[in-house]
Amino acid sequence: MRAIVIREPGGPEVLTLRDVPAPEAGFGQVRIRVEYAGVNRADLLQRAGFYPAPPGVPSDIPGLEYAGVIDAVGPGATRYAPGDRVYGLVAGGAYAEQLVVHEREVAPIPAGLSSEEAAAIPEAFLTAYDAMVVQARLQPGERVLIHAAGSGVGTAGIQIARALGCFVGGTSRTADKLERARELGLDVGLLTRGPTFAAAYLDATGGAGADVVLELVGGAYVAEDLRTMAPRGRIVLVGLTAGIQCDLDLGLVLRKRVQITGTVMRARPLEEKIQAAQLLERNLSPLVAKRIVKSVVDRVFPLEEAGAAHAYVAADQSFGKVLLRMGAPIV
Ligand SMILES: NC(=O)c1ccc[n+]([C@@H]2O[C@H](COP(=O)([O-])OP(=O)(O)OC[C@H]3O[C@@H](n4cnc5c(N)ncnc54)[C@H](OP(=O)(O)O)[C@@H]3O)[C@@H](O)[C@H]2O)c1
Repeated sequence: MRAIVIREPGGPEVLTLRDVPAPEAGFGQVRIRVEYAGVNRADLLQRAGFYPAPPGVPSDIPGLEYAGVIDAVGPGATRYAPGDRVYGLVAGGAYAEQLVVHEREVAPIPAGLSSEEAAAIPEAFLTAYDAMVVQARLQPGERVLIHAAGSGVGTAGIQIARALGCFVGGTSRTADKLERARELGLDVGLLTRGPTFAAAYLDATGGAGADVVLELVGGAYVAEDLRTMAPRGRIVLVGLTAGIQCDLDLGLVLRKRVQITGTVMRARPLEEKIQAAQLLERNLSPLVAKRIVKSVVDRVFPLEEAGAAHAYVAADQSFGKVLLRMGAPIV
């Protein structure tokens, strides 16, 4: 099969298209013919040598999400048959024409959804749903603040929060992204080039503040989050592109009784990955099938242009998701 291999740690140019042996489906596993794979920031970190794949996952083939078709079923696997269309998360290996995964980590693609649309769902929507609804216990009608509102996770978070009837505020450094996010349900867009959004968010909520912050930027944004929070607010740390350190006013944490939680999807053990697949199938697929939430695909690159796709994501231009499409084999 063809796969994108990280030749050595480095820039986008180290991503190399190679013929590698196709994986075989083991006990309880299915093999998927991948049609589209999502590009994620974590893939960029892995390529640069900062985020190695966990044990049991191909160490040199990136890719954390996919949409495709079951093409082989291993012994003891009973849920799917060849030809079934599926999507989901993996801890690596999705930049390839074939992928092997435990059958319970997989979810059926809802009827009517194209494979391109499906591939844009798992990482963005599961991350946002798990952070806001499962971990931060977001309730209908609460007030949300989503940073990097035009990101893949941000555009998913906006739609999930809107579906719950929440007030949705969001920040971005790019005015055009805030404009486009309005169509997804963003109530108030705050254009900011740094951690200066508390006054505007408090103003927009009549002084009430945010019940839940989906923190996709990190760094000094977290200190400003504390100034933005309503009493008993919840901050979920998901992305740290602005840095891993900041100076926090712990007095605000106490007085407002704020909860700060961190989360990662990739490092979870199999049982939690199975729970994530169930969340995708039971909680998110119905919203997708009814078009209550929809994929936001910015751009699709052919597999062989994975390096260009990485450079594009790193340039912070994208609105929503960037995908790779598996093409016809090289002859
Ligand atoms: N914990 C997890 O399991 C998990 C899972 C998925 C994603 N993530 C993280 O969540 C974040 C969003 O992921 P994504 O794939 O949705 O990202 P994305 O689509 O690539 O968008 C990220 C956006 O963040 C903004 N940004 C980048 N650097 C910034 C900075 N220094 N200050 C302020 N804004 C900045 C840029 O938009 P503007 O034009 O608005 O500046 C950029 O386009 C990333 O940090 C990612 O690593 C974590």
